[in-house]
Amino acid sequence: MKKNPKMTRIFYDELVNENRITFIYTEHNQFIAEGSLVFKNDDPEYTIPDKRVYLSHMIVKEEYRNRGIGHIIVDYLIDYAEHLGYEEIALGVDADNFNARHLYEKKGFTNVLRTEEDEYGKYVKLLKNIK
Ligand SMILES: CC(C)(COP(=O)(O)OP(=O)(O)OC[C@H]1O[C@@H](n2cnc3c(N)ncnc32)[C@H](O)[C@@H]1OP(=O)(O)O)[C@@H](O)C(=O)NCCC(=O)NCCS
Repeated sequence: MKKNPKMTRIFYDELVNENRITFIYTEHNQFIAEGSLVFKNDDPEYTIPDKRVYLSHMIVKEEYRNRGIGHIIVDYLIDYAEHLGYEEIALGVDADNFNARHLYEKKGFTNVLRTEEDEYGKYVKLLKNIK
């Protein structure tokens, strides 16, 4: 994994400002996986105040994949957003990340907002209604 100081800084600031909430999945006190919600960013396709929240940085340690942990985390994030009163949840996923896309589609992220390209390649913005 490559270090990315710019992203680290953004995540840190979001956490400190309570604009990001990160949930950690552990087994025997060991980090296994994480997923986050971000409440405000500068992209209205990802966040709309009090309406749309952004699912960010889902990752399961490689040796723990395909055991259903990804499903557990996405379900948890959706429930959490719903309890906070959000109506929609959005995310971005690399176009060629078929594992993640399969998972998100199963969880109801079936509304494709747009396909875009940045310095990391093509990605798809997906939306799910949770109300
Ligand atoms: C995407 C990711 C979070 C999924 O986590 P996970 O714990 O493996 O997910 P689960 O075990 O709950 O479910 C995986 C699903 O993908 C399926 N799957 C696994 N490998 C697959 C493949 N190569 N092609 C298609 N589907 C695949 C599993 O069978 C399961 O599907 P099912 O619900 O039909 O049984 C995990 O692969 C990961 O951390 N990837 C790297 C980080 C990443 O890409 N994050 C997403 C950024 S948007």
